[in-house]
Amino acid sequence: MDQSVSTKANSSILEVWGGTPLQGKVNISGAKNSALVLMAGALLCSEPCRLRNVPSLADIQGMAKILKALGVKIKQDNDVLELDPTHITTTDAPYELVSKLRASFFAIGPLLARMGVAKVPLPGGCAIGARPVEIHVRGLKQLGAEVYIEHGVVHAYASKLKGAKIYLDYPSVGATETLMMAATLAEGETVLDNAAQEPEVADLANFCISMGAKITGAGTKTITISGVPKLHSTDYNIVPDRIEAGTFLMAGAITHSDILLSPVVPDHLTAVIAKLRSIGFQLTPDAQQGLRIQSKGVHTGTEIETLPYPGFPTDMQSIFMALLTLSEGNSVVTETVFENRLGHVPELVRMGADIRVKGNIAVIHGVPFLSGAPVTGTDLRATAALVVAALAAKGKTSIEGLQHLDRGYSDFEQKLRGLGARIERVPAPNA
Ligand code: UD1
Repeated sequence: MDQSVSTKANSSILEVWGGTPLQGKVNISGAKNSALVLMAGALLCSEPCRLRNVPSLADIQGMAKILKALGVKIKQDNDVLELDPTHITTTDAPYELVSKLRASFFAIGPLLARMGVAKVPLPGGCAIGARPVEIHVRGLKQLGAEVYIEHGVVHAYASKLKGAKIYLDYPSVGATETLMMAATLAEGETVLDNAAQEPEVADLANFCISMGAKITGAGTKTITISGVPKLHSTDYNIVPDRIEAGTFLMAGAITHSDILLSPVVPDHLTAVIAKLRSIGFQLTPDAQQGLRIQSKGVHTGTEIETLPYPGFPTDMQSIFMALLTLSEGNSVVTETVFENRLGHVPELVRMGADIRVKGNIAVIHGVPFLSGAPVTGTDLRATAALVVAALAAKGKTSIEGLQHLDRGYSDFEQKLRGLGARIERVPAPNA
């Protein structure tokens, strides 16, 4: 993460005055989780590439720093990134940069496939869980690489990777992406079974295909990759961010507003849209990649269980829970993907929510209103959940933890202000 961005975010808070209905249209940025892996994927190519619709985020700056440290030349013009990975100068990813951005572990697959060697520090855990990488490592070994971990660094060597049939024990997004990237330049055919089906995996496949890779089945459980000797230049447009879109849907829902989001791929939000409809909201896609949300008055509680795509996304769990705190009746939310993703609960309770947690299950009893309070976000989506809750709360909520928010939301408060929200970023009282 860019240190200046992080320090500024640490010394700022968001002040939100709740209760104002939102209206109008909001622009959805390119997907963070696509942009990060596509940037790493550019390492596969021995010619310059262009990525469009890249969101302006601290994590993107962090990934750019890591790629630059490996020798990639990068130019940025608004949401367009020009990456020239022609001359990789080192295959050792620097610990001080990798440790700040888990997604930088993505460099291992492309570096190994193209350069025959990669040394990438273990990404380590984070606020939401331990986040091991043994599925990535096992898969790389099956592709013929020698992989070992020494002093916290994953060392991977292979003069030429060889295609293989790989069954993933769990449909890990990162492992699917790492193995798909590695297999693009391997000798022969690779089949990834029980692969992650997330839209970002399909976006990475389409990006690699646009560079000449041969991939079929991305977006399904079985992905087949026929290795090619090299990849060529491309100009590629990143898909809209389904989690940012989902966050604005919650902002609209919790304030009983009528807002339009665009661009959105509604198919990427099927589980979220279905849940919103089932608890009482009206969602209407239009022909121009727009998605409108309207409130029909009361909304009710429901049950949610997070699952790999196309199930309900773990990244939306905290944000949907903010809405459920004000739903009529009881709700049950079960987090199955990450072991520690309920950090928003005590903060929502501080705002007056009635939530009880047992293990990975939260039981929510809807309350008539939330009250503004000082709260702290513990991770990216937990912080977003607090902003959503604050939009509906009575009075002022002061939110700390903006270094998390700035990792994943581009111009968040500007976009919310554009919809009429009363939200300001101000210096922290004792900064
Ligand atoms: C990606 C997303 C993240 C999202 C998550 C699940 C990026 C940059 N991040 O993370 O926002 O919340 O998908 O949709 O794209 N696991 C193992 N061993 C492994 C790999 C994963 O046990 O080798 C476990 C993880 O600890 C976790 C679960 O599998 O409990 C899901 O992780 P995974 O799908 O790999 O998520 P990420 O790719 O890290």
